[in-house]
Amino acid sequence: MRTQVAIVGGGPSGLLLGQLLHRAGIDTVVLERRSRDYVLSRVRAGVLETGLVDLMHEAGVGERMDREGFIHDGTLIANGDEQFRIDFHRLTGRHVMVYGQTEVTRDLYEARDAAGALTLHDCRGVKPHDLDTAAPFVTFLRDGAVHRLDCDFVAGCDGYHGPCRQEIPTEVRREYEKTYPFGWLGVLSETPPVSDELIYANSARGFALCSMRNATLSRYYIQCDLSDSPDDWTDDMFWEELKRRIPAEAAERLETGPSIEKSIAPLRSFVCEPMRWGRLFLCGDAAHIVPPTGAKGLNTAASDVHYLSNALKRFYHDRDDEGLERYSETALARIWKTERFSWWFSSLMHRYPDQSAFDLRIQQAELAFLRDNEAAQKAMAESYVGLPY
Ligand code: FAD
Ligand code: PHB
Repeated sequence: MRTQVAIVGGGPSGLLLGQLLHRAGIDTVVLERRSRDYVLSRVRAGVLETGLVDLMHEAGVGERMDREGFIHDGTLIANGDEQFRIDFHRLTGRHVMVYGQTEVTRDLYEARDAAGALTLHDCRGVKPHDLDTAAPFVTFLRDGAVHRLDCDFVAGCDGYHGPCRQEIPTEVRREYEKTYPFGWLGVLSETPPVSDELIYANSARGFALCSMRNATLSRYYIQCDLSDSPDDWTDDMFWEELKRRIPAEAAERLETGPSIEKSIAPLRSFVCEPMRWGRLFLCGDAAHIVPPTGAKGLNTAASDVHYLSNALKRFYHDRDDEGLERYSETALARIWKTERFSWWFSSLMHRYPDQSAFDLRIQQAELAFLRDNEAAQKAMAESYVGLPY
């Protein structure tokens, strides 16, 4: 088989890249390790920056999102029983869109099918070769046979655990990592959201987040120990703990119900440099991870896809490889700012096991500063709605 761009990974990065390239007349094949049902069953991000919303339109898949997504002009920050609002619209003139990653992925799969572009699921042992030559290829095992896909470029959109990043030689690759001493226990429930806007809550018992997917589907998270397992938490225990961490008036309004998904995600900050080696280009979680506070994971993947799709269009349409040459540098400049924001917002909102009395006072002072200072709110809002591409 031959294609122009071999895309490893059929998550949001790989699918969005595939769709943008397809619309520009560039041929791609997506190789995905899992089944489509498995990919679509993963409950992950829920908040889209306007940059990603624009890319969905550019990819020709914005219609359902426009119809079913919810525009949020602000968010609530709670500290114990106190609460204040960050007004994105007033501070930045912009907003975010609540529309689940599963819906984004579903729309992109449907568009890819409609375009007749090839997606191969259940590919095992995917391995890129000859990335430092002009004729790279990818081998993989599928239906009991070894296949070879020749290409001009390989896009590593294979997530944090994928194989592509490992192809960058260790003497070239530099990895920066920070782990956090807690995780997030997340629950999805078929109940109306407790609030029209998200509530990020700092409480003496730890962080909590009230989010949503639509008018009848809520997503809630609480900070938990890394050693916890979802089975340790019955639904009743989860709801009780959530109520104790959000302001009393929200707790009274909270509608509870059976969980339809319950999982724990560890929190991590991670960046791999460079994001390009020879003819390999990394996008999304394959190259970087942020803690979910501030909802930047999927959005940062989208900004990579923006830079890479434009660079590839320049290469194929104008025979100009400057965008490809500068891809890593350009993408990383934005990523590090987003890493900073996610780290800062995580530090502001969680209780740390080793937090001293001094640390706690500083955290409280920072929350009060954010509540009272318009410049601080503007800085927060600009990062939350998304830095410019
Ligand atoms: P992925 O979504 O990881 O997609 C990579 C794809 O590559 C997968 O489909 C995978 O099966 C495939 N793959 C892996 N290995 C191979 C291989 N060897 N061969 C072929 N294919 C392969 N972000 C937020 O903003 N908010 C959240 O609430 C949030 N919650 C999250 C919860 C969890 C548990 C995780 C893991 C992430 C969460 N994120 C969240 C982050 C967000 O979901 C990711 O940033 C986003 O999915 C990145 O998209 P991606 O396509 O780069 O990677
Ligand atoms: C979500 O809805 O899953 C979500 C929203 C905001 C975040 C993280 C996750 O910061």
